[in-house]
Amino acid sequence: NDIPVIAIDGPSASGKGTVAQRVAGKLGFHYLDSGALYRLVALSAMRSDADLADEHVLSDIAARLDVVFEDAEIWLESENVTDAIRAEACSNAASRIATYPRVRVALLERQRAFRQFPGLVADGRDMGSVVFPDAALKIFLTASAETRAQRRYKQLMEKGIDANISTLLQDLRERDARDSGRSVAPLQQGEGTSLLDTTSLDIGQAVDCILRQYAEI
Ligand code: C5P
Repeated sequence: NDIPVIAIDGPSASGKGTVAQRVAGKLGFHYLDSGALYRLVALSAMRSDADLADEHVLSDIAARLDVVFEDAEIWLESENVTDAIRAEACSNAASRIATYPRVRVALLERQRAFRQFPGLVADGRDMGSVVFPDAALKIFLTASAETRAQRRYKQLMEKGIDANISTLLQDLRERDARDSGRSVAPLQQGEGTSLLDTTSLDIGQAVDCILRQYAEI
């Protein structure tokens, strides 16, 4: 497959979604928010009262997911769930569900289908390691846990949602541990992946850095 992919992996609240979307916009590439797929499986499972410990039921839900991505909006069975999948309960359930190998396999082809001309920017945890191992450029985008908690806090405040920074930090650390410690497709900086620490960079600087690296290859 000679359609280029830029894989951007990293922990929760690192800003990789915003950065990936902007890079895609600048290059005129398609964009895949792979985390949204895990969130959609979680939402769908919670709504149908499925047992979040039942890998078979969950992988069935993942395989049958009726979802449409339209610009910045996400539709599940014709309902706009763009905001619903960002809820904290959904984040936590998604990170649990993402530990099941069958669920991950069920979502594999759906993710690869986003690879269309002229190119794709994909963000997640295993874009460079599992889903697009032949990506043209692989970035591990991160920031300190404190910085990420502060960014999430600011985001929530701007939306008028009450939050507690130490609870956010604790939740982030738990999710980091689960995402990095799991046996299938753990979050880690793999070989041939370049590290981009955005602790003291803003979004524009992070985007420029990726565009520069892409222009060099
Ligand atoms: O990136 P986001 O925070 O939306 O992802 C939600 C959850 O989905 C993550 O905590 C992670 O456990 C899981 N995920 C994954 N592999 C991906 C993307 C997300 O396991 N490629």
